[in-house]
Amino acid sequence: MFPIIDLFAGPGGLNEGFSSVKNSDDSYVFKTLASFEMDSMACQTLRLRATYRELVRSGGDLRPYFEYIEGKRPWQAALLGNFKEAYRKAKAHVYQVELGEDNRPEVDAFIGAQLGPEEQRGHWALIGGPPSQAYSLAGRSRRTGDDTFASDHKHFLYREYLHILGKFKPTIFVMENVKGLLSSKNGDDSMFQTILEDLKQLDGGASYEIRSLVVDAEPHKLDPADFIIRAEDYGVPQKRHRVILLGVRSDVASIVPRRVLTKADGAVTVRAAIETMPNVRAKTSNRKPKVHQDWPAVQAAALRDIRTSKMVAKPEPAKTGPRAIGDYESWIREDCPSTTVQHEPRAHMVSDLARYRVMAELAERVGKSPKYSDLPASLHPEHQNIGKVGTPFTDRFRVQIWDAPATTVVSHISKDGHYYIHPDPEQTRSFTVREAARLQSFPDNYFFEGPRTQQFHQVGNAVPPLLSKQIGEIVASMLASLTD
Ligand SMILES: C[S@@+](CC[C@H](N)C(=O)[O-])C[C@H]1O[C@@H](n2cnc3c(N)ncnc32)[C@H](O)[C@@H]1O
Repeated sequence: MFPIIDLFAGPGGLNEGFSSVKNSDDSYVFKTLASFEMDSMACQTLRLRATYRELVRSGGDLRPYFEYIEGKRPWQAALLGNFKEAYRKAKAHVYQVELGEDNRPEVDAFIGAQLGPEEQRGHWALIGGPPSQAYSLAGRSRRTGDDTFASDHKHFLYREYLHILGKFKPTIFVMENVKGLLSSKNGDDSMFQTILEDLKQLDGGASYEIRSLVVDAEPHKLDPADFIIRAEDYGVPQKRHRVILLGVRSDVASIVPRRVLTKADGAVTVRAAIETMPNVRAKTSNRKPKVHQDWPAVQAAALRDIRTSKMVAKPEPAKTGPRAIGDYESWIREDCPSTTVQHEPRAHMVSDLARYRVMAELAERVGKSPKYSDLPASLHPEHQNIGKVGTPFTDRFRVQIWDAPATTVVSHISKDGHYYIHPDPEQTRSFTVREAARLQSFPDNYFFEGPRTQQFHQVGNAVPPLLSKQIGEIVASMLASLTD
């Protein structure tokens, strides 16, 4: 097995894909030696997943795991026998730490111990994504004109990644970041070019050939845009565009073949990902307005007013019958628990529910998400002039469309569900954690620890495992070319 080390591991999406890559004899290709992450809940998710993996790989009893994630067995009652032993091993390689200059000595010592003596190390890979908020367009727009960029250490956390590259010289590395990295600047300097330059001057003299996973061209002919990977092109039901660099250590680069991802035959839609999930309805929360409103009456009134929407009124579409489970769901549902876990809807205010109901209804009729201004006037908030240009409120709601991939699932989904309104008007709600996880291609047996806000946050942060599995297959074939 080829060792991998995962930096800024989040809930482990990137790692999950790599961990599911198998050889032709069904054995696993990769073994995780260490995952580094500072968030305690994400670390708990990583430990639990590593426990599950350990049980699967050792042929252990999976029932305590499933009973725990289904809420049928408390943690202490699950932590016995095989499960306890698997958890002990899992815990030993999930390292909770804030990566940064101050903590380099302890992190280096841990990696050194995990990899073993230098002269005995074989080929291995470093994977991970330095945090992206610093470069994300949303993050940047909040700090326009901010001259503290250069002093904010978050922009330079990639140096921790580079430090480990220089010190431990993995054969291959995979580094993920948001697309905003390509346009992010530190003064006059492009952050992307700065990272590429810094990659040429690693401590310890190592150097890497930087390759694209989507454009098969000589490295010096690649443009920055050639590093953008569109998850929807590779079977993920979500438009998620990320910059991913693949580095091959220069001393072996001439032997390691260039490989790129193979595009899927067609897009996987929201329908293919979530339609067969149990239907659930949101509870109402009436913190605002304080006066309780009668939901059925509100709903009936909203639907009556739909005729006055500015959108072209089309007849209601014919309802489709039950659907068979497709290829995508086969990936999601392999070895899944008997119930759908983490599928509890959030509570919404009655006024928002009425909007969701009508917006989903309109979306179903015209095949695209309505804008807030398309709503009947009765659903506009009284104090907002939503016709006014630039009123941000108008863009706060979006219905996801059945027959297209979803828009990007972001960690902000933890704060606000308005952008992820379920396309089924009858369900009248935003996505659950499990639906978001399915759109991110996490298997149904993947459990996110912590309160719901943190679960959403973890899901939105991750690399889709189905995409990372395909990247893992490329890395596996590259490493294998060195051992053949
Ligand atoms: C984009 S997420 C990584 C997602 C991960 N690659 C996956 O596929 O699931 C970045 C992670 O870096 C973590 N992080 C941010 N700063 C960190 C630091 N200084 N040290 C360790 N982890 C950090 C965040 O808590 C977050 O979970």
